Amino acid sequence: MSNKAARNLFIFGSLFFFVIFLALTFDTMGKLDKRAPVITEEVNAGKMVWHKYDCIGCHTILGNGSYFAPELMKITEKKPKGYLKQFLIDPKSTNARATMPKLGITSEEADKLLAFLDWTSKIDTNGWPPKPILATAAGVGGKELSEGQRLYQSLGCSGCHIINGIGGTTGPELTYIGSKRNRDWLFGHFKDPDKFVPKSAMPKVEAADADIEKLTEYMLSLK
Ligand code: HEC
Ligand code: HEC
Repeated sequence: MSNKAARNLFIFGSLFFFVIFLALTFDTMGKLDKRAPVITEEVNAGKMVWHKYDCIGCHTILGNGSYFAPELMKITEKKPKGYLKQFLIDPKSTNARATMPKLGITSEEADKLLAFLDWTSKIDTNGWPPKPILATAAGVGGKELSEGQRLYQSLGCSGCHIINGIGGTTGPELTYIGSKRNRDWLFGHFKDPDKFVPKSAMPKVEAADADIEKLTEYMLSLK
C-alpha cells in the first residue's frame, strides 16, 4: 500500500466510525428519558426510607451494593406486593427461615419502599439482570413440559419454591410434595392458603379451577 492509500484509509476509516459513533450516541440519548417511569413523591419517599435503613448494606440494587442479600431491582415483578409488605414489616412472619432482620419498618414505610422498588422494576435495562434458567425447573432435561409444569413457571411459583434444586427458598421445597399432601389439601390450599395454614405467606393462586387442577396434578407427581 502506498503512503497515500494508507493515509486515506486512516482518515476515511476514522471518519466512518466517528459518524457511526455519533449516530449511536444520538440514538441512545433520545431513548434515555423513556427508559424509566416518572419519579413520583411516593417513589422519592421510598428512596429516603431505603437510605434510612441502609438496605444497600446487604442488598444490591441495579447491581450496586452488597452481595449479602439478593438483588432487589425487579423484586416486585417476582413476588406479589402483599407478600413483600408482610415480609418487610416482619420477615419471619412469612418464612421462619428468613435471615433478614426485623428492622422496625412501619406499614407506611413499607408502602413507600414498595413504590420505590416498583419504580426500579420498571426501568428498562435491556434485559439485565438475566433471568435464571427456569425452563428446567420442573423436570430437568429436554423433556416436553406438561401443562402443570408450564403453569408452575408462568405463575412464578419457582420464585418462592425449590423443585429439583432450582428456585427460591421463601416457601417449602416441593420436590417430594406429592408424598406429603393429598389432592384435596393441595387444591384447597391453592384456592385459599390461609384456610390450611393460618397466616400463610403464600399468595392465593389466581387461576381458573381447571388450571389449578393441572397444577395439583403436577404436585401429586412429585414423589
Ligand atoms: C442485615 C442485612 C439486610 C438488610 C439491612 C436488609 N435486608 Fe432485605 N434481605 C436480607 C436477606 C439475607 C434476604 C434473603 C431472604 C432471607 O433470608 O431473609 C433479604 C430479602 C429481602 C427481600 C426479598 C424477600 C423475598 O422473599 O424474596 C426484600 C424485598 C428485601 N430484603 C428488602 C429489603 C429492604 C427494602 C431493606 C431496607 C429497608 C432491606 N431488605 C434490608 C438481608 C437484609
Ligand atoms: C411469594 C412466595 C410464594 C409464591 C409465589 C408461591 N408460594 Fe407456595 N408457599 C409459600 C409459603 C411461604 C408457603 C408455606 C406456607 C403455606 O403452606 O401456606 C407455601 C406453601 C406451598 C405449598 C405447601 C407446601 C407444604 O409442604 O405444605 C405448596 C404445594 C405450594 N406452596 C405450591 C405453590 C405453587 C404451585 C405456586 C405457584 C402457583 C406457589 N406455591 C407460589 C410461598 C409462595
